[in-house]
Amino acid sequence: MATDAWEQEKSEGVRRRLLAWYDRSRRDLPWRRTKDSYAIWVSEVMLQQTRVAAVIDRYQSFVQRFPTLVALAHAPEQEVLALWSGLGYYRRARMLHKAAQFAASHLKGKLPATATELRLLPGIGAYTAAAIASIAHGEQVAVVDGNVERVLCRLEGWKAGRRSSRTPQLSGKIERLAAQLVSPVRPGDWNQALMELGAILCLPLNPQCDVCPLVSDCKTRGEHQTTPRPPMKTREAGYALALRTVRASGRQVLLEQRSATQTVMPGLWELPSLADAAVPEDELCMTVRHAIMQVNYRVSVRSVAEAEVVTLTVVGGERRWVSLDEAEQMALTGLARKVLIRAHLLAAKIHHTIAQEPEEDVV
Ligand code: ADE
Repeated sequence: MATDAWEQEKSEGVRRRLLAWYDRSRRDLPWRRTKDSYAIWVSEVMLQQTRVAAVIDRYQSFVQRFPTLVALAHAPEQEVLALWSGLGYYRRARMLHKAAQFAASHLKGKLPATATELRLLPGIGAYTAAAIASIAHGEQVAVVDGNVERVLCRLEGWKAGRRSSRTPQLSGKIERLAAQLVSPVRPGDWNQALMELGAILCLPLNPQCDVCPLVSDCKTRGEHQTTPRPPMKTREAGYALALRTVRASGRQVLLEQRSATQTVMPGLWELPSLADAAVPEDELCMTVRHAIMQVNYRVSVRSVAEAEVVTLTVVGGERRWVSLDEAEQMALTGLARKVLIRAHLLAAKIHHTIAQEPEEDVV
């Protein structure tokens, strides 16, 4: 069903141009080499709110450790969270795990093939269902994420505004146009092409219109009044790096588990908080910048001897002295891992060096 603005012919031209560009320019990403719906599901959940560069390495470790939905379903939650460490938004990992357990016990370990049935699983929303169904099973269903919305609004000259303040009318128009444009022949590639265009050319602030394959179809062409993000808030935080040496197990670090009732990163392990974030300069062991959602933290880390732990820190959860090998395997917050790597206590892996990743959504 074509709208007034998008007759059949124009839709076909746009599909042809965008898919040709995608075939020439697509990034070679590990999840694009599989049709396994479970692996595609994992990649799409990781890709929500996280940059592709941060996901690549984590995706590979994750599917290596949990190669099937059933393997994931049987894993302890802490192990799933440990493999998610650094990606942030841990609620996604918990929901993925729960949905895998649901599918393992109620669906014989198999994900359904259609978007409608996929949506019945806990934690699978319209976006993820459409991505899995179109990419793994070729269903002609549109994926609409923030990138797709921006691209379509610009193509049509619709003033997008911020996502949170979008009117239902505009959301409806975007969804109808997205549904109408999906290629019937290559729906998975079409959806990925549109997201790819938004991610690498049709950028929020600096769109590359001169090399865009859709420039001749676009009503906006460079006059992109994208609403700027609100400025990040800045906050100070202080953490204790307490180390001790135990004869049997070598060096140990003191970690604290965030309580299960916290809205942000429940159950993850972090360094104990300092009672006073204003660390005297001669006691400062490092400062780290860390962004979590819309807040930029300036984190002071103080080296604290075992005997000083009680006076210098505030207890927020269960504490445990753990060996560095054990810490490496635990579900650490991204910040704790970053500090331990900077202090040369944990090995830096590529994915852990990606700075300033958002860490957690408020549930
Ligand atoms: N963003 C989220 N999923 C994506 C995909 N499959 N391809 C490109 N960008 C994406």
